[in-house]
Order: sequence, then structure tokens, then C-alpha cells
Amino acid sequence: MLNIILCGAPGSGKGTQSDFIVQKYGLDHLSTGDVLRAEIKSGSELGKEIESLIAQGQLVPDHKMIHLIDHYLETRSENCKGIIFDGFPRTVEQAEALTLLLERRHMEAVMIDLFVEEDEVIKRLLERGRTSGRADDNFETIKQRLKIYHDVTKPVCQYYLKKHNYFAINGNNTMEDTFAQIDTILRLIQK
Ligand code: AP5
Ligand code: MG
Repeated sequence: MLNIILCGAPGSGKGTQSDFIVQKYGLDHLSTGDVLRAEIKSGSELGKEIESLIAQGQLVPDHKMIHLIDHYLETRSENCKGIIFDGFPRTVEQAEALTLLLERRHMEAVMIDLFVEEDEVIKRLLERGRTSGRADDNFETIKQRLKIYHDVTKPVCQYYLKKHNYFAINGNNTMEDTFAQIDTILRLIQK
């Protein structure tokens, strides 16, 4: 199985690149942000608990996220060729839990880390915010999301670097250019 963790700042292109990967490699795409936004929309208990956290650019507590991933892995389809983890893990605690959850199922994952300049991600997110309807696509919340990314999520990259399961790519240019780099890595690790 080809399991990929797509990491990168808010607006770095995780969702966009996931779509390209799904199209070419037929992997399943798990965007934790999309799952959480669907929970909010559904009005579930979890949705009510997390709505203000997401609107403020704060992370949802680790134990809730780990439970969600465990459930996802337990119920994934038998024909699954691999999973793109988009937006998970975001803390070292989540990374350690994911390692255990995957090991238990004789699986592992490699991280692909999208590097994009801060000015560029802010520009992309403000542009998207004009039409996305996302509560966190405004300047104040984008700044908060970026702070959490640097303080809490960046150490997760070190975790995978130490495990030698880590690739960094330049995501500043066009979507196609970024995908070409990802594609090279995926062809390499599939062999
Ligand atoms: P999440 O939904 O994961 O948001 P994010 O990480 O902030 O990232 P985005 O989805 O905003 O950006 P992206 O990297 O997917 O970029 P995209 O492809 O859309 O999480 C939201 C919230 O949920 C978190 O803040 C947290 O509260 C909670 N959460 C989620 N996971 C969690 C976890 N594991 N633990 C705890 N809490 C969690 O691209 C952005 C824009 O740029 C688009 O408009 C796109 O068209 C454009 N674009 C993309 N690539 C390019 C390019 N190369 N050139 C020009 N434009 C481009
Ligand atoms: Mg996204």
C-alpha cells in the first residue's frame, strides 16, 4: 500500500495536490479538515464542540483526532490501494499514535512536506476566502493557523525525518509543477 502524509502550511496546496494524486494513483483521500467541517455542517455533538475551535484557528484535541483516524482505518474499504492523510498528523502526539495505528495493521506512511513562502500562502487563502465560506479564511485566523503550524506541526516533520520517511518539495510554483515533483517521489517509492 502507498500511504502518504501530505504536510504543509495552511494554503500550501495539500487538498489541491491530493486531487492530482487521487486522479493518477487512485488512492483514498482523507482530509481531516473536510471531515471536521462536515461534522459541523451535520450539527453533530462533535461538530458543536469543535466549531469555535476551527473558526479561531485552534487545533481540535488530539484524542478526538486519533479516535477519528482509528475509526477511519477500521472501516476503510478492502480495495483501498493506499491513503493520503491530508492534515493529519498535526502534533507529535498524533504522529506517534498514527505510527501505532498503522503498525497494528502492518502498514506505514511516508511524509511529503510542501514548502511554500508565507506571503504566498496568505495570498492564496485570502483569495480563496472571497468564495470559500470557510470560517477560518480571514486574515486574523490565517495568522493564528500559521502560528500553530510553525509551533506545533513543524516538529512532526522532524519526527518523520528521523524515521527516514520524509520528502520535502517546493510548492511555490504552479500546481502542475508541484505535482510533477510529487509524482517523481511516488514513482520512486512505489518501486
Ligand atoms: P484544514 O482543512 O486541513 O486546513 P489547513 O491545513 O489550514 O489547509 P487548507 O485546507 O486551508 O489548505 P491546503 O493546504 O489544503 O491548500 P489548498 O489545496 O486548499 O484544517 C482546518 C482546521 O481543522 C484546522 O485549523 C484545525 O482547526 C482543524 N484540524 C484539521 N486537522 C486537524 C488535526 N489533525 N488535528 C487537530 N485539528 C485539525 O489550496 C489553497 C488555495 O490555494 C486554493 O484556493 C487553491 O486553489 C490554491 N492553490 C493551491 N495550489 C496552488 C498553486 N500552486 N498556485 C496557486 N494557487 C494554488
Ligand atoms: Mg485543505
